[in-house]
Amino acid sequence: MNNSPILFFDSGIGGLPYLEWLKVRMPEESFIYIADNKNFPYGTKSREQLIDIIHDTMDEAVDKYSPKASVIACNTASVISLDHLRSNFDFPFIGVVPAIKPAAFLSENKKIGLMATNRTIEDKYTEKLIIEHASDCEVFRYAGTEIIDFIENELSSAKSGERETVIDPAVKFFHEKEVDIVVLGCTHFLLLENELQNALGPQIKIIDSREGVGRQIVRVLKDKDILSAKKQSDLFVLTGQGDEEKKIKNYRWISKKYGLCAV
Ligand code: DGL
Repeated sequence: MNNSPILFFDSGIGGLPYLEWLKVRMPEESFIYIADNKNFPYGTKSREQLIDIIHDTMDEAVDKYSPKASVIACNTASVISLDHLRSNFDFPFIGVVPAIKPAAFLSENKKIGLMATNRTIEDKYTEKLIIEHASDCEVFRYAGTEIIDFIENELSSAKSGERETVIDPAVKFFHEKEVDIVVLGCTHFLLLENELQNALGPQIKIIDSREGVGRQIVRVLKDKDILSAKKQSDLFVLTGQGDEEKKIKNYRWISKKYGLCAV
């Protein structure tokens, strides 16, 4: 038994749907959600920059919260830094990487769409995933930088139609490529999942890694015998101050939506 918290980590608010999946299923566990908004966005930074940023942010979080395990609820951070984190910190890490393997299995026409950050799309880890698990598929990659920025900063203040407008170029791209499945390879996109599904239409499936990651964390906690017996409070922590009223409003709105106490 171990009542210490599980630390969720993302460059911003994208990892919250991953946290929600686990929160519902493991009501005894306590969660600290770190949104590294000081360093947002990750997707446009270099590998070296990201390893330094993620290491330092994790170091501070470990000092403050002494987690028993961590979910890197960010595809970009996971593909870049999981090995580094595992060899530098002495608790288990569970990563979130694009669901290429199940997508290749589910695709009937063997045309897969991958929506992610620039960094994830270009990274050799993603290339390896595709070679290993989707060599019989064509994978069409779309870097959704504007969409990620919109979600992080403007989701709560968006006017009618703005959500649809921001995803429109991605939707057109996937329609043109005639994919039958789209992998949400950046956690932020889950916050526009319904809008994406409506715009893509019923003939295109959407897939993410929530269930696989959730099941993996449950397995790790059980195997290591570190399940919690008593819940403490859940916290939503920002690493920086939002520098604009609309951004601050967005953080307040989202932490409330997910039932977390903002720090
Ligand atoms: N949420 C992140 C991901 O899953 C990245 C967003 C960003 O900071 O660019 O890749």
